[in-house]
Amino acid sequence: MPEVSPRRLVVLVSGTGTLLQALLDAAQDPAYGAQVAAVAADREGIEGLRRADRAGVPTLVIRVEDFPDRDSWDVALTEAVAPYRPDLVVSAGFMKILGPRFLATHHIVNSHPALLPSFPGTHAVRDALAYGVRVTGCTIHLVDGGVDTGPVIAQEPVAVRDDDTVEALHERIKVVERVLLVDTVGKLVRTGWTIENRKVRIP
Ligand code: GRF
Repeated sequence: MPEVSPRRLVVLVSGTGTLLQALLDAAQDPAYGAQVAAVAADREGIEGLRRADRAGVPTLVIRVEDFPDRDSWDVALTEAVAPYRPDLVVSAGFMKILGPRFLATHHIVNSHPALLPSFPGTHAVRDALAYGVRVTGCTIHLVDGGVDTGPVIAQEPVAVRDDDTVEALHERIKVVERVLLVDTVGKLVRTGWTIENRKVRIP
């Protein structure tokens, strides 16, 4: 059988990077079909960047505060990522809204710690807990110009416990989220996807 080269991922992070780590670990297996070509962050000094360093993956830090405005940051991030020729960009705990240039250049998926369209935004776990839902979870979705509004690809539920805290619930969501992200990204890059009327199908 002819060898198929692994698809190239660029992963965007802002924090601990345990989702990134799950992708790095999965990519060790050639059958996964993808490799992490680079990791980009919006800040220095985070564990996500150290995980990339330990895995020997190139890192980029493009900070909003180093640019006169969001547009220039958007252009800089787009241009910094482009040489890594990602087949797919994975936003894995990246705490910035991506700009129009980046969105027009790359296919991007985001992992969100709630069952969208419920609880979009930065405080999804806190908001779900405060609302009093009995079930929340995680969503992998394509990224569009809105805040967590892009077409849903995959979701998994997580039950809320009576004595939950934001931290405990988020940790249980992340256990499920890591598996779902690895599984979904692998399928997307190995087989591609179609999208019609917001319905994402992986053949
Ligand atoms: C994940 O729950 C992600 O959905 C959210 O931030 C968390 C990132 O965790 N936006 P980590 O940095 O990968 O550990």
